[in-house]
Amino acid sequence: MTILTPDKKVALCSDHAGYELKQTIAQYLQSEGIAVDDFGTNSSESCDYPDFAHPCAEAVESGRDYPGIAMCGTGNGIAMTLNKHQGIRAALCWDTDLARLAREHNDANVLVLPARFIPAEKALEIVKVFLSTPFEGGRHQRRVEKIALK
Ligand code: RB5
Repeated sequence: MTILTPDKKVALCSDHAGYELKQTIAQYLQSEGIAVDDFGTNSSESCDYPDFAHPCAEAVESGRDYPGIAMCGTGNGIAMTLNKHQGIRAALCWDTDLARLAREHNDANVLVLPARFIPAEKALEIVKVFLSTPFEGGRHQRRVEKIALK
């Protein structure tokens, strides 16, 4: 099972703290034939995560890209920024169970990773689970529909 669709790319974004992990994830996805839309940052030079998170969120929110994968040092700053967008459900996940539940229960459309707190191998496991877990719907559908402000 995959949540990927052939017509959409995976949107990626990070700040400097997540840059190396973003590159690792981009390489992994591309090696699997999965197209990515990389919103930066493009180096380990210090920068501000909202500058990359907002354009990434807009791409997912508009339906151009799906899903998104984002990372900063803790994951918190970039998740807070992404979740300012009404159409974004960004989930901070540091293990595979959280990623599975973020998809099954919350229909998360952006996976957020805490780059300074998990090794790259763990992050790739989390990415694989996130990309292969469908939304359960049912009772969760109603709850998810109540998240966005009208
Ligand atoms: C950068 O030092 C760090 O503050 C940032 O990556 C992130 O953890 C913020 O939430």
